[in-house]
Amino acid sequence: MAFTTPGTRGGRTPAAGRGRGVGEDRGVLPEISPATADALRTALDRVGYRTDGVRALLGRDAHAALTRGEPEPAFRATADGGALGVLVRMLLLGAVEPDAAVAAALAPLTPVDAAAAGLLRRTGDGWAAALDLRPHGADDGGEWWVLSDLDARRQERDHVTGVGGASLTLASATPRTPVGTVLDLGTGCGVQALHASRQARAVTATDVAPRALAMARATFALNDLDVELLDGPWLAPVAGRRFDLIVSNPPFVPGPARVDYVYRDSGQAGDDALAALVRALPEHLEPGGVAQLLGSWLHVRGEDWPDRVRSWLPEGVDAWIVQRETTDPALHVGTWQRDAGLDLHSAEARTQAGAWLDWLAAQKVEAVGFGFLTLRRTTGTPTVVVEDLPDDLTDPLGTEVASWLDRVDWLRAHATDDALLDARLRLTNGVLLERYATAGDEGWSEAGAAVARAEGPRWRHEVDEPAAALLAGCRGALPLRELVELLAFAHDRPVDALVAAALPAVREMVRHGLLVPVP
Ligand SMILES: C[S@@+](CC[C@H](N)C(=O)[O-])C[C@H]1O[C@@H](n2cnc3c(N)ncnc32)[C@H](O)[C@@H]1O
Repeated sequence: MAFTTPGTRGGRTPAAGRGRGVGEDRGVLPEISPATADALRTALDRVGYRTDGVRALLGRDAHAALTRGEPEPAFRATADGGALGVLVRMLLLGAVEPDAAVAAALAPLTPVDAAAAGLLRRTGDGWAAALDLRPHGADDGGEWWVLSDLDARRQERDHVTGVGGASLTLASATPRTPVGTVLDLGTGCGVQALHASRQARAVTATDVAPRALAMARATFALNDLDVELLDGPWLAPVAGRRFDLIVSNPPFVPGPARVDYVYRDSGQAGDDALAALVRALPEHLEPGGVAQLLGSWLHVRGEDWPDRVRSWLPEGVDAWIVQRETTDPALHVGTWQRDAGLDLHSAEARTQAGAWLDWLAAQKVEAVGFGFLTLRRTTGTPTVVVEDLPDDLTDPLGTEVASWLDRVDWLRAHATDDALLDARLRLTNGVLLERYATAGDEGWSEAGAAVARAEGPRWRHEVDEPAAALLAGCRGALPLRELVELLAFAHDRPVDALVAAALPAVREMVRHGLLVPVP
């Protein structure tokens, strides 16, 4: 699970945004020389401008308030906060801070040099943030600073988003197995590349927007990270190259073929861009290489959404595509307009919403799905699973993705009934057997039973009595064959019939992690 420091993202407090001065141009591109990066790192470390330092200064309540977008408690908490308080107010709360205080907090970097690098702007006799600069951490110990645009630029076409909900969702859904090479496609502020830098020998990041490329370059410089940064659309900058891991939070928001915001709109209609990416990605994976993406797909009247997404997959890939949520067209349009900071009652927003809803209606779109796509290049018989995630997913998906891939490998190696029957399996820790009953004249009468995972995705499988008994016997001691034979004897049923009934369910339960192979 990654976490980032909350803030008002600047520009919203009354103090911010007044006056003119050095670095005033809100579209200025950051350009951080090695010397500036070095001096800024020294200053930020000296004052403790890190996730822990900011949390400690704010305290739990003010931190939580800031996460909810309420800055006043944070202003109070930082009033006696010394140099760290100055930086938190200026960089996270959007305040103008006096020249002398900023100079002291940023030393050895001067405010004038920070402004020349595009980070600050002169406002009256003080300084304000020209970019969003905040600490960001991962629970594997990764800790960085991320540069992105202020909210004041939210409605600019080339707005570079900071570490948002989708960024964190992808970061926590990415397997963190050590690898040689990683590609972060559509790097934006660089957040996925930062996370990948902990697991890879070499990281490549691409983007199509000059402003995003400048932002990512500045983020990497500030963190003293050597990331190869390439300019160009989709996979063009890495033509002919392969990677062990590709991560992408692409502009996946389905709508008409236009670009209002580069971070959000692909310029292709509906989910066409995602379909093209899924088709093309696997040839950029090393054998066994994995791609982890976020994406959205259309639910079109008369069409099965899993079939639609399945049809995008090329040969030779294992694929696990999980839908986390669906939204109706109105909620889809409203959500993304709100995300862009539009006043939904303005004439401009209403015109845009109208055109968007008309387009969705013309395409017979009934809903829009959002979820995760995991692809792995394989030489074996591919496994393709397209399914809905259970509702109550609270844990990060990355470890589950890694074990899903391992489980698929294991199932492939045990594809024959004999191989599976020879295996020893045990129930995953915490699996529960739930029995349910309906009320009748005679009281409760049992209506069925299911086994369910208690950790990670709460996959749930209906079971009958023999299946429940078989699972109870899965303690890793006996091969499945012996358990089935014992069960056949106990229930007076033919072994072949039990094998035919049990094995497909056992395979599904292994794939969903309810049953674990015992070596
Ligand atoms: C949703 S943002 C993701 C930013 C960042 N990777 C994250 O996880 O927060 C999508 C990024 O893709 C970039 N982008 C848009 N169209 C692109 C294209 N055709 N090829 C490559 N990148 C593109 C945008 O500039 C933006 O930085």
